[in-house]
Amino acid sequence: MAVSGVRTVKDLVILITGASSGLGRAAVERLIQQGVRGVIAFDRSTFEHNNVTAAKRVIPVVGDVTEEKDVVSAINTCKNEFGKLDAVVNCAGVGIAMKTFNEKSGNPHDLESYEQVIKINLVGTFNMNRIACELMAKNEPINGLRGVLINTASVAAFDGQKGQVAYASSKSGVVGMTLPMARDLASLGIRVNTIAPGLFLTPMMLQLPEKALERLASTIPCPSRLGHPDEYAHLVQFIIENPMMNGETIRIDGALRMQP
Ligand SMILES: NC(=O)c1ccc[n+]([C@@H]2O[C@H](COP(=O)([O-])OP(=O)(O)OC[C@H]3O[C@@H](n4cnc5c(N)ncnc54)[C@H](O)[C@@H]3O)[C@@H](O)[C@H]2O)c1
Repeated sequence: MAVSGVRTVKDLVILITGASSGLGRAAVERLIQQGVRGVIAFDRSTFEHNNVTAAKRVIPVVGDVTEEKDVVSAINTCKNEFGKLDAVVNCAGVGIAMKTFNEKSGNPHDLESYEQVIKINLVGTFNMNRIACELMAKNEPINGLRGVLINTASVAAFDGQKGQVAYASSKSGVVGMTLPMARDLASLGIRVNTIAPGLFLTPMMLQLPEKALERLASTIPCPSRLGHPDEYAHLVQFIIENPMMNGETIRIDGALRMQP
């Protein structure tokens, strides 16, 4: 009978993008608390330490996921500081609200904004993954496995709403990359999975007025509230620890199915 390959995150080295805020920040906090050896906290905004013990194991790197040189520099920092890379968690992302054609103003969707969202959410995720593989591939395999890449899509990849055309396109691209990338990297023992969150209470969401947040929460069947970022981070931990998780996109949304 096959032996269980489940192993804890203890002693692993993780690179997290979008680490300075929201879901990425929650992943940093949970994984440090669970005993990882170190985290590279990559973000275009500065990472603020608020815990002295953890601070020694979190190395902030400022950079843009769409820039090859910034990503290469983050991977080099990881190699120099920790000598290995076990998992990447892609959380860097942006959202905009704009319709394909605005019948009130008579204007089509601004092309530059569309391209910018695709570039950060989709191309940025691909850029980080493709470059991270090189260092991950050098790991000594454990039960045939060397590491895992985790992407963050959104339920908008499946039920994109009015005004979410750019965001939903970028996130469905992330869902689409998951299986072929898992197949490409299978011979190296590198797994690839995507998380598709519903509505989580992060700075992105806190920009909305309280009334709008209450209305959004009421659309979530059970539990009827916005997700806590640590609930997302817990799923990140599960994906890292469970070796049979591969080539899959998991919704974490309290049974939310967004309406048009
Ligand atoms: N919060 C939600 O409800 C929710 C739902 C579904 C999906 N998501 C996705 O989860 C991810 C994290 O969202 P969040 O709510 O934590 O947002 P957030 O705005 O709190 O954090 C996003 C972080 O990404 C960083 N970032 C943006 N562009 C970058 C770039 N080019 N290079 C490097 N860093 C960059 C930002 O500086 C920020 O720190 C995003 O991809 C978002 O689309 C969030």
